[in-house]
Amino acid sequence: MSAFPIDKTRAFGKLILFGEHLVVYKAPALVGAVSAYTDCQIEYLDDAPGKLEVIDNRPAVPLYKETKKEEGDEAINLTLKHLGVDPAVRGIRLTFGGDLCCASGIGASAAQVVSLARAVNIADSRNLTEDEINAAGYEGEKGYHGTPSGIDNTAATFGGLLRFQRTDGAPIFEKKSFPSAIRIVYASTGITASTTKVVGDVRAMKEADEAWFAEIMTEYMSLVKEAEKVVEEGDLIKLGKLMDQNHSILQKMTVSCKELDDLVDAARAAGAVGAKMSGTGRGGLMIALTPTEEIQDAVASALEKLAPQVWKTTFA
Ligand code: MEV
Repeated sequence: MSAFPIDKTRAFGKLILFGEHLVVYKAPALVGAVSAYTDCQIEYLDDAPGKLEVIDNRPAVPLYKETKKEEGDEAINLTLKHLGVDPAVRGIRLTFGGDLCCASGIGASAAQVVSLARAVNIADSRNLTEDEINAAGYEGEKGYHGTPSGIDNTAATFGGLLRFQRTDGAPIFEKKSFPSAIRIVYASTGITASTTKVVGDVRAMKEADEAWFAEIMTEYMSLVKEAEKVVEEGDLIKLGKLMDQNHSILQKMTVSCKELDDLVDAARAAGAVGAKMSGTGRGGLMIALTPTEEIQDAVASALEKLAPQVWKTTFA
């Protein structure tokens, strides 16, 4: 095989620190990309028009790939369509890999479609800008749920710590820097949630009781304003407290669940300065803020007793 520069197709996973679900309704959110990535190899099969073969070598929590297969195929098709690549004309073999362990909440779907866009860009010498790659990822994300905010594909494309806000037009996002590395532990409940379903449920609850939703939004808006200030100041302890408060909001929205709440409680009891669910919820992941290596180890050990998968990392 020719030396396809697969390292140039990397797209990152992400963890939402503040604002999942409310970001869909244009509230600002803070998200950190993790260093783990998905990559994509593309081969054109000139002698097999009509063939689209997907080899999925990504590590994943049990049942993730099976549960997400249909949505993933749709996401790949939407991304290829957006980029004007038609397997009916020229067959395609895609091989996805990398070290990002796919789990609900980590932005694996966005990382997959962004890495695909990067692979097409290289294979076809398109010279796409990062914004164009991100836009292709956004189209792909629609395969996973109808109304993505765009936060996952933006984190997958650009990496780092980002403030992200959806608007009626293009989203607004900017890189944020925290004065020190943000040391975290994240853990999976092992439950793969459907983002389509959970986002749809939140929409239905909002439509059934706009006053309730407006109250939630007001509470969150003052919280995220404070969080942005605290990020500027670099105060991890205050940041943790605000994450705790965001978790309470998500509980009110019924997107947390017992498994997530138990992990959040265990992380706090083991010394985390803050913990919350992250991403879609009703399963998926939680994240805990752990200021020192000792606390990070202690929290990881506590979570390992309850969670099937636990990871330690830092947002640089
Ligand atoms: C999923 O990672 C985050 C949600 O807010 C959906 C979205 O923003 O598209 C639940």
